[in-house]
Amino acid sequence: MHSVTNGAEIELARLTKHYPKSVALDDVSLTVKPGEFMTFLGPSGSGKTTTLNLIAGFTDITSGNVFIDGDLVDDVPVHKRDLGIVFQHYALFPHLSVFDNVAFPLQQRKVSKHEVRTRVLESLKTAGLEGYESRFPKELSGGQQQRVALARALVFDPRVLLLDEPLGALDKKLREQLQLELRRVHREVGRTFIFVTHDQEEALTLSDRITVFNQGRVEQVGSATELYEKPATRFVAEFIGESTAIVDESRNRVTIIRPERAVLVASESDVAPGKPSVGVIVRQAIYLGAGWKYEVILPDGTAGVVRTDQSLPWLVGENERAVLTWEPEKAPEFAL
Ligand SMILES: Nc1ncnc2c1ncn2[C@@H]1O[C@H](COP(=O)(O)OP(=O)(O)OP(=O)(O)O)[C@@H](O)[C@H]1O
Ligand SMILES: [Mg+2]
Repeated sequence: MHSVTNGAEIELARLTKHYPKSVALDDVSLTVKPGEFMTFLGPSGSGKTTTLNLIAGFTDITSGNVFIDGDLVDDVPVHKRDLGIVFQHYALFPHLSVFDNVAFPLQQRKVSKHEVRTRVLESLKTAGLEGYESRFPKELSGGQQQRVALARALVFDPRVLLLDEPLGALDKKLREQLQLELRRVHREVGRTFIFVTHDQEEALTLSDRITVFNQGRVEQVGSATELYEKPATRFVAEFIGESTAIVDESRNRVTIIRPERAVLVASESDVAPGKPSVGVIVRQAIYLGAGWKYEVILPDGTAGVVRTDQSLPWLVGENERAVLTWEPEKAPEFAL
C-alpha cells in the first residue's frame, strides 16, 4: 500500500439528523485528525451509526455539514467520497471468490488488469489472507470474512476507513486477535480510521482518541487516559471504567471515585484529618491475582468498588462495616 500521504481530516459541523419520531443526532461538532484512529463509543441508540452514515453519505443530513479535507461533501455521492467502508450489513458477494470480492472496487474504478492483481494480492497480505484468493466466502470463518471485507475496503487506498462494529459478531478471542491486527493495519497504511463500537475495552485498546456519544450528542472527545482521568460529564465518568458515585444531596453534587483511588479503613478514627469519608458495608472481597477488589454498599443502598494491592488484614469477614475515604482532588465532582 502506498502510504506516503496521510489520511484525510473529517470535520463535522453542527451535524443534526431528525427522523419523524426521533432525534438520532443532535448538533454534533467534531474533528477527526488526518491519520487518526478515532473510535465512536456509546450505548445502543446513541447515534454512532447515524454519524457514520452521514459521513459516508448513506443518509441525508437534516442540518449541519460534513467536510473531508476541508471540502464540503454534503452533496457528493457515496462512491465519490473516497471512503473505505466495513459495515456489518455491507456483506461480501457470496458468488465471488475472495480475489474477485477484493478486486471489485478496483474494477469499478477501471484499474488495469495487471494493477488489479498486484493491488489485490498486496491488500490480502495486509489483511493476513495470503493464499485465500480462490476461496468463496462460505468457505471462510467469520473472522476471515471480516478480513476480506477489510482487504476490500483498503484495496483502493481510500483516505478514510469507516468501520461499524466490524468485530461485533466474533467471539472474544478472535475479536482480540483482530483488534491487534487492525491496529497494525492502521499503522501500516497511515489512513484515517473511524471505528464504531459499544465495547469500552475495544475502544481503549485501539484508539488514538475516543468520541463518547450519548442520546445523539457528543459527551466528550479525548484519549483513553483523558476520558478516564478527566471525564467532562458524569455520564463519561460512569461509562468509562469503574467508579463509586457518592451523592451529596445537600450540596447538589455527586463525586465519582475510581476504584484504585478509593481507600477502605476500619473506622472513622483511621480517616486522614480533613478528608471526606462515608460508612459502607463490605459486601464481597474478590481476589484478582494482581490485587483485591472490594464491593461495598453505600448508605443510600447503591454499590461501590475499591481496589487494593494487598488484602486488608483487619477485614475478617464479609458484610462487615468499614469506612470509605478518598482524596477530593483526585475524584471528579459533577452537579446532580
Ligand atoms: N432509519 C431510521 N429511522 C428512524 N429512526 C432511526 C433510523 N436509524 C436510526 N434511528 C434512531 O436513531 C437513533 C440512533 O441510532 P443509531 O443507529 O445511530 O445508534 P447506534 O449508536 O449506532 O446504536 P447501536 O450501538 O445499537 O448500533 C436511535 O434512537 C434509532 O432508533
Ligand atoms: Mg450502530
